[in-house]
Amino acid sequence: MSTGITSQGILDFHSHILPGIDDGSRNWDMTMEMLQLSWDAGVRAMVATPHFLPWGHRLRKEKVLALTAEAQERAQRDLGIDMKIYPGEELYYHSGLLQDLEEGRALTLAGSRYVLVEFSEQASFREIHTAAASFRRSPWTLIIAHVERFESLYREQDLQEILDMGALLQSNAEEMERGFLDRRKRWLKKRYDARQITFVGSDTHDPVKRPPLSDRSLRWFRDHLDASYREALLWDNAVRLLEQRE
Ligand SMILES: [Fe+2]
Repeated sequence: MSTGITSQGILDFHSHILPGIDDGSRNWDMTMEMLQLSWDAGVRAMVATPHFLPWGHRLRKEKVLALTAEAQERAQRDLGIDMKIYPGEELYYHSGLLQDLEEGRALTLAGSRYVLVEFSEQASFREIHTAAASFRRSPWTLIIAHVERFESLYREQDLQEILDMGALLQSNAEEMERGFLDRRKRWLKKRYDARQITFVGSDTHDPVKRPPLSDRSLRWFRDHLDASYREALLWDNAVRLLEQRE
């Protein structure tokens, strides 16, 4: 069990733990294994963020909410762990996304005004900028999922422009676990140094290949960040938003 990384436990902001709804967990056994591994690493709360694709169907939102509640109940009942699980979605950006939100087809994070959005990895700066501008005019706040994947944001002034429009950034913890300092990791390290990342998640899809948070993936955060930023990044920022205290 991890101790000392944060005072209250860790919140995993991005996960594909709900069974049979996207390319993440395939069944309840797998979901339970992912929840137990998370718990063992010190995770006490998670956001379930299955992929929302533009061609998805109507009944899905109710299904996400029901599966999230069921996952929390089963964790308590079958594993004896008190894992808090919030409902959400990882929304794939497309031109109709704001309409999907307006008409209630797409889920925000735990019913808040914050939305986790992924772009195509080839998305140009112009596309992301256009999206950020339209979110700025909307009731919703854009959180860019695994921001390190988008090389079109690697220019300092470009990223700053997106941040100035009110977008927030989520990063995947596993990126900092790799031994070698490649371009992506170097860029991301600078973003942490500048306190530009607000949320961290595992983006776990299964127990092994794309695993939950672990002592290994959390080590970098323990060793490189000061206690107050670490606390904000791994717990406070997310809990404030999900409990709608801001
Ligand atoms: Fe994801």
